Amino acid sequence: MAQKPKVVVTRALPQTAQRLLDAESGLEIVQWPSEQPCERPWLLEHSKDAAGILLMLTDTCDEKLLQAAGGNLKVIASFSVGTDHVERDALKKRNIRLGYTPTCLTDAVADLTVMLILMAQRVGGEAMRKVLAGEWPQMPWSPLLMTGPQIRSATVGFLGFGRIAQATLKRLLPFGISGAIYLTSKPGQPVRDDHFGLIKEAYIPIEPAKDWKQLASESDVVIVGCALTPSTKHFVNSEFFAHMRKLSVLINIARGPIVDTDALVKALEEGQIFGAGLDVVENEPNIAIHHPLLKQPRCVLVPHIGSATIETREQMATESVRNLLAGLKGEAMVNEVEL
Ligand code: DGY
Repeated sequence: MAQKPKVVVTRALPQTAQRLLDAESGLEIVQWPSEQPCERPWLLEHSKDAAGILLMLTDTCDEKLLQAAGGNLKVIASFSVGTDHVERDALKKRNIRLGYTPTCLTDAVADLTVMLILMAQRVGGEAMRKVLAGEWPQMPWSPLLMTGPQIRSATVGFLGFGRIAQATLKRLLPFGISGAIYLTSKPGQPVRDDHFGLIKEAYIPIEPAKDWKQLASESDVVIVGCALTPSTKHFVNSEFFAHMRKLSVLINIARGPIVDTDALVKALEEGQIFGAGLDVVENEPNIAIHHPLLKQPRCVLVPHIGSATIETREQMATESVRNLLAGLKGEAMVNEVEL
């Protein structure tokens, strides 16, 4: 009897997605059983002769993994929109397809972005910390207590202006922001994809920045939403902070290494910017309790929960399984990266 194609799945999946996968009786499914990240040696060992691998953003997909898998591998399905953990060239040269989940998480991440903007501007992290530490009695209401900049009339700058950025902008319009500028890999050029018909219909100026200096110096809120690539690593560095407004906030919902953490700490300590709202940070999740970033009263850091709504995570899981199966069968994926 012919052997069943093997698929490796690096995490326990939400129920609907798991059922969809388990219904494929023609597959040998090898699955890491826990919701905790899969161990690298386990992945290398079990990927041998796999035809497909469904993995998370915590799993590196590189030459070593592809070599361990061998020549049967047809598809990688990543449970994420970001694919910086995948060596695209290594897939391309082997004709391995890459599926990802760029559409179903847009609303969830845009919602969290708005939360982080408001938390950063309104000193939400520190306000909660003080109440929880029992300090409220020592700081009764007073006119300037915990005051921060207001979102109304803000100019919002977007580093990267894809779906999530545009969905965030859509949410910010009713707050009365005064304008938006964006920087993409083609500075100064009008954006190619108007995902929500927003730019066409906008009643505020939404314009391309000519360069990063213009974006940094004219924005009250800077939102990092671009992909992590060698050219965006530490794009937001001390020079960038030096151009930012004193009452501005920096939001990062993309990938930690796009922002130089040491430079961010310095910018906060020296009052070059007002605050920061971060869903991601360099070397996450390994940030020590004594790290100076965690001592910054105006920095809010949450543990990479941008897409963490029940609905979205179920959709991401289901879409990842669909991409995996489509890749095995040579069919169209829900979303495939053009390599
Ligand atoms: C992704 O899918 O890349 C996001 O970072 C998850 O929140």
